[in-house]
Amino acid sequence: MTHARIEIAPSILASNFARLGEEVRMVEQAGAEVIHLDVMDGHFVPNISIGIPVVASMRKATRLPLDVHLMIEQPEEYIEEFVHAGATRVLVHQEATVHLDRALAMIREHGAEAGAAINPATPVAMLSEVLDKLDTVLVMSVNPGFGGQKFIRGALEKIRQLNQWRSRYNGNFRIEVDGGVDLDNIAELAQAGANTFVAGTSIFHTTDPAGATRQLRRLASEALSQKV
Ligand code: DX5
Ligand code: ZN
Repeated sequence: MTHARIEIAPSILASNFARLGEEVRMVEQAGAEVIHLDVMDGHFVPNISIGIPVVASMRKATRLPLDVHLMIEQPEEYIEEFVHAGATRVLVHQEATVHLDRALAMIREHGAEAGAAINPATPVAMLSEVLDKLDTVLVMSVNPGFGGQKFIRGALEKIRQLNQWRSRYNGNFRIEVDGGVDLDNIAELAQAGANTFVAGTSIFHTTDPAGATRQLRRLASEALSQKV
């Protein structure tokens, strides 16, 4: 199955921004498949983080795909700029736009992979009409806005449900999980059907981010191979 491939996506939100290039090279060498960038506007979420210039700098610092998670209102207005800055994947929140279908189509038209993210309070059913426009569904397992929060277990059931839809309708989207992912829950998340694991604190707030990256992947792979 195409989706068996596991991706560890370190979230640079938890890294040291003063030495971003080194932090990214470290997890890249440890085998991270994707770099996750959290864009926050202080409106959709109660925090402000990075924007287009950081995506552009990151594009020059690594060859890995850039997963750009837009926690901003009216994401449509910025899609083109983020893709031009080097985003490989653009993820918009279902809750942030009344024109999700249009936003997803725009992302693909500009040449990036399209993703939709859902907050903990949003049911997966909100995406049922746009599944064919999605390369990724991002299940938030914390309320977006901050790193270092506690994993919300309701995300597991959503991942199972998405995994069922995917098999039933032969869907081809990746299931990504973001928030509180760590060594204790990654196996369960992989068994539920998640493919891409965003991890900030559990990678960058350790003494050995490279080792943490490898260990997360090992646990996810083992969980998949044990799955019956
Ligand atoms: C939260 C962000 C996450 C965050 C995850 O709003 O979308 O990507 O960086 O951080 P941890 O892994 O610390 O929960
Ligand atoms: Zn994120």
